[in-house]
Amino acid sequence: MNKKLKIGLFGLGCVGQGLYEVLQQTPTLNAEIKTIVVKNKNKKRSLSEEQFSYDKNLILDDPEINTVVELIDDSEAAFEIVKAALQKGKAVVSANKKMISEHFQELLDLQKEFKVPFLYEAAVCASIPIIRNLEEYYDNDLLRSIEGIVNGSTNYILTKTISENLSYELALKQAQDLGYAESNPILDTGGFDARYKLQILIAHAFGQVLRPKDIFHQGINRIGELELRYAKEKNLKIKLKARAFKNEEGRLCTFVLPEYVKSSDKFYQVDEVYNALQIEGCFADRQFFVGRGAGSYPTASAVLSDISALRYDYRYEYRKLNSEYEVANAEDTYIKALLRHPSSEADEIRTKFLQVDEHYKSREQAYTIGVLNLKEAKEILKEEQRSLVLISTLSQKDLEQLQSPYEEIAWAVGNGG
Ligand code: HSE
Repeated sequence: MNKKLKIGLFGLGCVGQGLYEVLQQTPTLNAEIKTIVVKNKNKKRSLSEEQFSYDKNLILDDPEINTVVELIDDSEAAFEIVKAALQKGKAVVSANKKMISEHFQELLDLQKEFKVPFLYEAAVCASIPIIRNLEEYYDNDLLRSIEGIVNGSTNYILTKTISENLSYELALKQAQDLGYAESNPILDTGGFDARYKLQILIAHAFGQVLRPKDIFHQGINRIGELELRYAKEKNLKIKLKARAFKNEEGRLCTFVLPEYVKSSDKFYQVDEVYNALQIEGCFADRQFFVGRGAGSYPTASAVLSDISALRYDYRYEYRKLNSEYEVANAEDTYIKALLRHPSSEADEIRTKFLQVDEHYKSREQAYTIGVLNLKEAKEILKEEQRSLVLISTLSQKDLEQLQSPYEEIAWAVGNGG
């Protein structure tokens, strides 16, 4: 079957505009945009005024439109549109990770009730076709872990600040100008966007519907001079990574954290706006996916692929949902990390670690490197002047081999500011 698609498009921002252009260049697709609806009457657009309108019902009430493509910024307004479209039996494509993640269960229920497809490949890692791969190829029992760089803006900022010595502010400004960042960039820099994407990945990889707020996260906005200096001195890079993995008891551990990455690591080469995901299976070992993670055309290409799939009535089956997984307690997940904190807090901070490997203290700032659990890390990070960069995760075996509590391998005292 190769259905003719009549599209109602909501939003003509960076991705909407990209989709419009990409569709013009894909005449064989058998898909045509019938109506475009936008919100802001004062925004300058490259299309002429008569090519779009402002009334959402022109799409929702049009029986000829069988496909709604939702590409607006406001996640709550987006949810209302998607809900109404599904209720009216229209297939929907969206790239709105915040909306999808925050309303995941409701969206599942709507798809079940109204029996219409809802596709959102563009919502996670833009051009990397990860959701369909997780849906179609990877069976639940075979998957051990999924980890990756899932936010283009933060990867761009980290690349520019570490490798090119650009200031954080300038790098962020460039990410905004290039159309990578969210309209509220704290969603990127604070790690929220990565958390939404991880929540969606977990549903498709492991069949667990978590609430985004159940996933522990820290973004890159706290990273300071000391953490950057440590990276440069040791020839490391910092990447904001999302992780979900099964521990030895089969429980799912999840978090989003900035991580130090060695030059021998595959993620080390993934710079600028690129995203990458590594999937580890029980038998296939590791597979690595890489591609542009943000921007007009790469995101539009994923939307286009969903539109194309709708011609064959493709839909997600969510076969893994309700798998018998338990989510690991934060106190059972151990990490090795560098924690930067005010020097005055050094004694207090050291007691939070199961093992301290290294400590550096200058007049104002200090860092402590060692092993701690995620619950402790969460508590520690409630204070904004502290920041954490992951060094590695720990297996049960690693834990058994730890030094006795608080034993220090190195102690360095500097004079810096
Ligand atoms: N702001 C997002 C990012 C856009 O930088 O990854 C793509 O989801």
